[in-house]
Amino acid sequence: MFRLICLSLSLAVTASVTFAQDGETIKSEEQLFVAKHGTPRIDGNIDEVWKQAQRVDVNKVIDRLLTIDKDVVATAKVRVLWDTDHVYALWQVKDPQLSSKSRDPWDQDSVEFFIDENRKRSKFYQYDDAQYRVSFEGKISGQGVGFDESNVKAVARKTRSGYVVEMSMKIQGNKLKSGRKLGVELQVNDDSGTGRRGAVVKWNHAQDDSWNDTSNFGTVLLEI
Ligand code: BGC
Ligand code: CA
Repeated sequence: MFRLICLSLSLAVTASVTFAQDGETIKSEEQLFVAKHGTPRIDGNIDEVWKQAQRVDVNKVIDRLLTIDKDVVATAKVRVLWDTDHVYALWQVKDPQLSSKSRDPWDQDSVEFFIDENRKRSKFYQYDDAQYRVSFEGKISGQGVGFDESNVKAVARKTRSGYVVEMSMKIQGNKLKSGRKLGVELQVNDDSGTGRRGAVVKWNHAQDDSWNDTSNFGTVLLEI
C-alpha cells in the first residue's frame, strides 16, 4: 500500500505538498485540518472542550463579490469537533457592522458550513451534501439535497468585535470514527449595513461555488 505521510497532523496543512493516504490523493490546492473528538454544549458559550481543537482562518476573499474596503471585511476563526453522530463548529467572527437588512439569508451577516459526508467531491450535490447557514441572530437556513433543518442546532451571540456561532450538525450516513475524512468548506457572508452582501470570505476555495459543487471543498480529518 502506498502510504506517504509527510505532514504534522497537529498543524493546518496548505497541501502544496501532495500526499496520499490509503490510495487517496488530496488535490494540490486543497487544505486540510484536524477535528478533535469532543461534545460541546450548544449554548453560545465557549466550553473547555473547544480548546483542544485546531483553529483555522476563514479569510480568503472572493474578489468577484467584493464591493467594500478589503480592510473591513468580516473574517472568522473556526474550530471543529466531532462525536459519533455529529460535527460541531465554533465560529468566532470579526465583523464591525452587523446587519440582517436583506431578505436573502446569504446576504445577511452569516456563516456557512458545507459538508460532503462521503467525500466524493461531486460537481453537484448528492444525498449526503448540505449547506448549513446561521445568521448572527441565530437564524438557520440552508439548502442542498442533504439539507434537513432538523439536523442542525445553533446558537449565536454578539460580541464586542462581531459575533460567535456555535452549531451542531447531525450526520446522515455512517457513524463517525477516528481516521475518517470529510469534505468541508467554510464561508462568512458580510453585509456592512447596506442590505446587500459586500464581501464573502472562505476557508479553502475563493470562488462562489460551494453551494452547488462539492469538488473544491477542503478536507477535515477526524482524530481522537
Ligand atoms: C452563495 C450564494 C448562493 C447561496 C445559495 C451562498 O453560499 O454565496 O451565491 O445563492 O449560497 O444558498
Ligand atoms: Ca458527497
